Amino acid sequence: MTVIDAYRERVRDGALKPDPAQEAVAAVLSRLADDLNAAPPGRDGFVRRLLGRRNELPKGLYIHGEVGRGKTMLMDLFVSQVTAWPKQRIHFHAFMQDVHARRQRLGGDDVIGSIARELAAQARLLCLDEMQIVDIADAMIIGRLYDALRGNGVVVVTTSNLPPRELYKDGLNRQLFLPFIERIESTMNVVSLDSQRDYRLGRIRARETFLHPATAENRVAFNELWRDLTDGAAGKVDVLEVLGRKLTVPKAAHGCASFTFQELCGEALGPPDYLAITRAYRTVFLSGVPKLKAHQRNETKRFILMIDTFYDAGTRLVALADATPENLFPKNQHAFESRRTVSRLKEMQSAGWWGNSAAIL
Ligand SMILES: Nc1ncnc2c1ncn2[C@@H]1O[C@H](COP(=O)(O)OP(=O)(O)O)[C@@H](O)[C@H]1O
Ligand SMILES: [Mg+2]
Repeated sequence: MTVIDAYRERVRDGALKPDPAQEAVAAVLSRLADDLNAAPPGRDGFVRRLLGRRNELPKGLYIHGEVGRGKTMLMDLFVSQVTAWPKQRIHFHAFMQDVHARRQRLGGDDVIGSIARELAAQARLLCLDEMQIVDIADAMIIGRLYDALRGNGVVVVTTSNLPPRELYKDGLNRQLFLPFIERIESTMNVVSLDSQRDYRLGRIRARETFLHPATAENRVAFNELWRDLTDGAAGKVDVLEVLGRKLTVPKAAHGCASFTFQELCGEALGPPDYLAITRAYRTVFLSGVPKLKAHQRNETKRFILMIDTFYDAGTRLVALADATPENLFPKNQHAFESRRTVSRLKEMQSAGWWGNSAAIL
């Protein structure tokens, strides 16, 4: 079956909604899958190179677009339809970790060449999900690695939230990275997936995002929401600069950041910190929100300020709390302000909120 047929079949089954932008990208993937299946790779990229036939290697593909547009879904459909090439499909982040591990192990003058030969021996079609370059260590080797992979007859297909020109934007030593962008543009077809819908949000919208109380079951739901919104990323520590100070983000991935209530409202943070968070992330996961006690004045004030800041910025909130918004605040305290916070918290879990804030971003 071709990729486009497989796509249409899923639409017919009702598993996917029809989407012309996806169909256009599926057609491009379909052609590539057909070309690959019709011409299985030669045994040795080195021979290919000696014979000067390097240009015969099919072009790879670079699919970019906003989150939730179906890039990963389409790439997986493609991977399943390529049968004649030894293939590997891996998340870009995991791929780079593997590359760095090999680098340590192999060493030597031509370590990049050695890594590429090892990888080519395993797979000649390399599908990398979610290429993003945030790390200088990755930025400094990815170009040479990519060239060495192609030299060894490896075709790369990748998805990314960014077009090639935006990769590693404002990164350190970016000029050393630019040749890689040129190589992407000359050896990969670059296509953008311009669907109008964020299908992932569709899934979230049907779910509750202010979870209470903090039962084991709700904890699982909270973690599932993280998985859904980050494509299963474990998340990494991140550091934001706020007025010359450093604010540690314990876990971040894909525009999502996760904190405990204690970390955001139990410490001496203020509006600039909350604002910095809204600038860096579109979604905040907040666990451990307690029923506030009358003596927790500072925590209560910070919580109110923080929700106001998130609200103004259109930030999406996933919370795991001990009680409903109405029952979080002590009676007769901060009555006016807490009423506003309660109402905002309710609005922030509405379908419209999740849809709207996506439109702004
Ligand atoms: N046409 C569609 N109809 C229904 N659901 C879709 C459609 N396209 C994608 N999805 C679903 O939406 C979610 C997000 O898609 P995904 O491929 O992960 O997006 P991306 O990789 O672009 O962020 C997935 O669960 C996917 O199965
Ligand atoms: Mg994806």
